[in-house]
Amino acid sequence: MRIRRSLLDLDDLDADELAYIFERTAAFERKPPGPLLKGVACVNVFFEASTRTFTSFNLAQLRLGADVINLSPRDLSLSTKGETVEDTAVTLAAMGIGVLVVRHPEVGFPQRVAMCFDGHVVNAGDGGHAHPTQALLDIYTLIDEFRNLANRTVAIVGDVEHSRVAHSTIRGLHRLGAKVVLVGPESFLPAGYAREGVVVERDFDAILPHADAVVLLRIQRERFAEMPMTDEEYIAGYRLDERRLQTLRPEAIVMHPGPYNRGMELDESVLDYAGWRYLKQVRNGVCIRMAVLDFLVNGGR
Ligand code: NCD
Repeated sequence: MRIRRSLLDLDDLDADELAYIFERTAAFERKPPGPLLKGVACVNVFFEASTRTFTSFNLAQLRLGADVINLSPRDLSLSTKGETVEDTAVTLAAMGIGVLVVRHPEVGFPQRVAMCFDGHVVNAGDGGHAHPTQALLDIYTLIDEFRNLANRTVAIVGDVEHSRVAHSTIRGLHRLGAKVVLVGPESFLPAGYAREGVVVERDFDAILPHADAVVLLRIQRERFAEMPMTDEEYIAGYRLDERRLQTLRPEAIVMHPGPYNRGMELDESVLDYAGWRYLKQVRNGVCIRMAVLDFLVNGGR
């Protein structure tokens, strides 16, 4: 079996490929590219809830003229008839499925699929490990805003430990020369996250006046048994609210991969803040995914 290109995490892309995907995303935004995936069958299979990622992968595939099949995990023989992941992947490839987009709560699940699937696999989120297309669209949104990210300060705030988005985004931002400041309590952000170019900060208020961008994270309650502090304690330390917004630089932007929990990591004043970029991130998600699919199937430069 020929190993085809997959996107399991950002490290699968070198600097040129990253730049190429961002260029293509911008070009697709300016002008829809037509049916670059005509005749390519894409299967989306999401073993975890998804609104944005699922819909934007579907839209991206449809806009590129692909044949799109959405498999519900509950209906797979994998779930009820004892078929293995490996046999499922081989079966789908035999039908000529070219692309598998997979989300799964198990870390490494898309990697397992990629080892035996004769086609391209895109990781749409595996447990708390990685979510490369979300990281790409977040980084693209930052580049769109600031052009060059070198020496820009990006604060990523909250439950870093359980956030696959944060894990992928941190790698990408670091590679592009941004100063990454991770902000959160010990239980959501072990001190071990600090390394060259990545700082751990406990005091949200201290970093706000220095940030070019603040990326808020949802507390990933589905990934741990017990909340390590009360909601009130979390809110007091880490919720972005009206008072904290006023301490930001005037040109600072605020982002969130979604879904956001009103009242926890942000209050409603954030949704009216001039630099709130969430909807822009969501919009960028479609063209990023078009660019990723085109890159994997048709190749780069
Ligand atoms: C995230 C995810 O599923 O990892 N959402 C997304 O894909 N945009 C983040 C989250 O669930 O909080």
